[in-house]
Amino acid sequence: MHVIYPGSFDPLTNGHMDVIQRATRHFDRITVAVLENASKRGQWLFEPEERVEIIRKATAHLGKVDSETFSGLLAEYMRKKGVRIIVKGMRAVSDYEYELQQAHLNRQLNPQVETFFIMAATRWSYVSSTMVKEIARYGGDVAKLVPPATLEALQAKFPELGKK
Ligand code: PNS
Repeated sequence: MHVIYPGSFDPLTNGHMDVIQRATRHFDRITVAVLENASKRGQWLFEPEERVEIIRKATAHLGKVDSETFSGLLAEYMRKKGVRIIVKGMRAVSDYEYELQQAHLNRQLNPQVETFFIMAATRWSYVSSTMVKEIARYGGDVAKLVPPATLEALQAKFPELGKK
C-alpha cells in the first residue's frame, strides 16, 4: 500500500522521522509530500526543494520512502497520485481538533481518501519545526531534536549553531 505523509517539514524533525519509521513497518511505500504554499513564502526557513533534499537524505536508509513537493489542495494531489491513504502524525490532544477538521474536509473533497494517524513516541511529543527553528535561530543546541541531515542544513544557515 502506497501512502502520502503530507506536511510543511520546515524542517524535518525527529518527531517526523519517528512517524516515517513507524509508517514503514505497515506500508510498502511512503511519499513525504512537502507543501509548497506560496502564501507562506516569507515565513519559510528552507525552500520546499531544500526540505525535500533533507528528507531524501534522512530517509535514504529506509528504502521505501520518497519525497516531493505539492501545491494546491491535498485532496486533489491524492487524486492525481492515485493514493487513498493520508498518514499524519499526532503528538498530543492539542493537535486533535486541527487534524480532525482536516481529515473530515479532505474526505469531503475526495471521498476515496482516508486519514490514518500515527502517534509519535512521547519522547518527541514536544518537538515541533517551529521550536527547532526558534532554538536554532538563537544558536541553541538542536542536535537531539533533528536528524543529521537537518542539523547539517541548519548549521549551513546558522554558523553559530550549538556553540553556546
Ligand atoms: O505540517 P503541517 O503544516 O501541519 O501540514 C499541513 C498540511 C500541509 C498537511 C495542510 O496544510 C494541507 O494539506 N495543505 C494543503 C491545502 C489543503 O488541502 N487545504 C485543505 C485541508 S482540509
